[in-house]
Amino acid sequence: MAEVKPYNMCWLEYTDLSKYKNKYIKVFENVVVLGGNELNLPLKELKNFLTFSLNIKPKIFKNTLVKGRNYVLIGRLIEIKKIFKESERFEKLLNDEGFIIKRIDIDGNKVLIITAKSYNGIVYGIFNLIERLKRGEDIENIDIVSNPSLRFRMLNHWDNLDGSIERGYAGKSIFFRENKILINERTKDYARLLSSIGVNGVVINNVNVKKKEVELITPSYLKKIGELSKIFSAYGIKIYLSINFASPIYLGGLNTADPLDKRVAVWWKAKVDEIYEYVPDFGGFLVKADSEFNPGPHMYGRTHADGANMLGEALESYGGFIIWRAFVYNCLQDWRDTNTDRAKAAYENFKPLDGKFSENVIVQIKYGPMDFQVREPVNPLFGGLEHTNQILELQITQEYTGQQIHLCYLGTLWKEVLDFDTYAKGEGSKVKEILKGNVFDLKNNGMAGVSNVGDDINWTGHDLAQANLYTFGALSWNPDERIEEVVKRWIELTFGDNEKVIKNISYMLLSSHKAYEKYTTPLGLGWMVNPGHHYGPNPEGYEYSKWGTYHRANYEAIGVDRSSRGTGYTLQYHSPWREIYDNIETCPEELLLFFHRVPYNYKLKSGKTLIQTYYDLHFEGVEEAEEIRKKWIELKGEIEDKIYERVLNRLDIQIEHAKEWRDVINTYFFRRTGIPDEKGRKIYP
Ligand code: GCU
Repeated sequence: MAEVKPYNMCWLEYTDLSKYKNKYIKVFENVVVLGGNELNLPLKELKNFLTFSLNIKPKIFKNTLVKGRNYVLIGRLIEIKKIFKESERFEKLLNDEGFIIKRIDIDGNKVLIITAKSYNGIVYGIFNLIERLKRGEDIENIDIVSNPSLRFRMLNHWDNLDGSIERGYAGKSIFFRENKILINERTKDYARLLSSIGVNGVVINNVNVKKKEVELITPSYLKKIGELSKIFSAYGIKIYLSINFASPIYLGGLNTADPLDKRVAVWWKAKVDEIYEYVPDFGGFLVKADSEFNPGPHMYGRTHADGANMLGEALESYGGFIIWRAFVYNCLQDWRDTNTDRAKAAYENFKPLDGKFSENVIVQIKYGPMDFQVREPVNPLFGGLEHTNQILELQITQEYTGQQIHLCYLGTLWKEVLDFDTYAKGEGSKVKEILKGNVFDLKNNGMAGVSNVGDDINWTGHDLAQANLYTFGALSWNPDERIEEVVKRWIELTFGDNEKVIKNISYMLLSSHKAYEKYTTPLGLGWMVNPGHHYGPNPEGYEYSKWGTYHRANYEAIGVDRSSRGTGYTLQYHSPWREIYDNIETCPEELLLFFHRVPYNYKLKSGKTLIQTYYDLHFEGVEEAEEIRKKWIELKGEIEDKIYERVLNRLDIQIEHAKEWRDVINTYFFRRTGIPDEKGRKIYP
């Protein structure tokens, strides 16, 4: 009975669940839909699930009420209110995209209501209901009100028109191939997957907008983007494009892209008008400007605010947004220069502009001040910016966290970032509260995740990396959710309700980031990867480069002094973090080498020296990875063979590569210091 597709549908796979048929049949025999044709799509989603998975074929009634029977009632609140007075009080419970699922008594019949103020809300409500049914949840007396906490919940694809993906580890792009836009069955399925986790925006192309990609905003591509947008809009998702700031030169034949030049503003306005003709639901632009060789307003002596606001004005009448990245730093640094500190760059560039950005401009900030390392402190722009809309940028694709060969579940790290208290307005000024709009009076905030999706059969290369995508959606809907809950839900939806499977995979996911951190670059060190592709250990790979990513190890000490006595980076934080980070004694040890230059014989809280701790962590990390693999092997026979083998294969490689990390890093430290491991384990001389 189950649905068959040439790729797996992750948490939306409609497997045979007829074991629940008896439990649900009484609820779903009749479905009433109130509203226009737009509701056909959510209705179809529900019907498909009921048919494929539960073998239930409901009778559908359009805009007619049924009497004397139980039924499901789907419709926007404005419709529901007309026939059911009590639902007026729902009005106050819902925000624009939230939904209600509630079973009530109407005239002696049990009615399962799925309602929302907006169409988006209905779609989210239907997918949420499907999730509950998939997990066999009791819905006899269901009573759910769910509102997304963040307004912008976005995926950023770093996909190129030729089909390649920058930092992609799951095959080729699902959006582009050979300079053409791809639209096929998978396009719609991707929209369904994203909608089912509450995502409401997708940037389809890479932030580095090169020659060919500049043309995406020309009619030769806009027509197809319009088609794509229709598919995504039906699932409540807006399409956004990354643009090249110098487009007026490349496409418009102007000799400048100066944001204060009238001709430039006029060109952009006309361009935006044209885009909306083809793509009426267009979301807006994502801009990487003055960053890593991408053009921007600095080229003309203008500020980021000048550049962003000029574009913002062009989009304003359409309700479009400019998402402007804060990933700006000097990428032509000299390693000999110890005064410039890349970690300080985002704050130094954007803090002075706080309050200068227009309403429809949002600054998108990477979680840490460097670049998605396995651990960094939270970017001080969170809490630093008080008058600027902001989006937290996370990397779902595992560029520095094992490239989907290693299992590295990121939900635990993201949760720590969201829960970080910036103290911007005293205690409780957590990142998630800022994003919700509870700390400053700003509502256009959200989360963006750099996508880990490609055209691999399982979308994410590593089957278990689907959990990262799912978790991104879950946390951007509700950053307060317990991560253990999210993990459990994802496992149940993906692998079913087998207790052992839930227990073992939970363990694997929840311990994987820590393990990866231990065998790579713990204590906040970061980098030490091979240049270019960023996979595998290379302790001095970035030591003498121009990118500003140095650890400056010598025979006595390692790490950069970012305290007030050093580069002064700690001063970008509010108290008490400023003082806590500033002092080597109080600095959280997991970030010690990020903030301080530490002698190898420095004693940590455990009483062990830094060097011994480093050795220990590396041995432990590999042992933990081996434990993770063991948990998977225990599941042989409980997981579909193909998936079992695919994951096992990656876990095998992970162990090999974890050992490589361990040995290379330990040897590097040993050669630097000549200090042996106290426990006499093998370190290659
Ligand atoms: C990282 C990554 C690049 C990417 C950049 C960005 O540096 O390696 O590929 O373009 O981040 O976020 O813009």
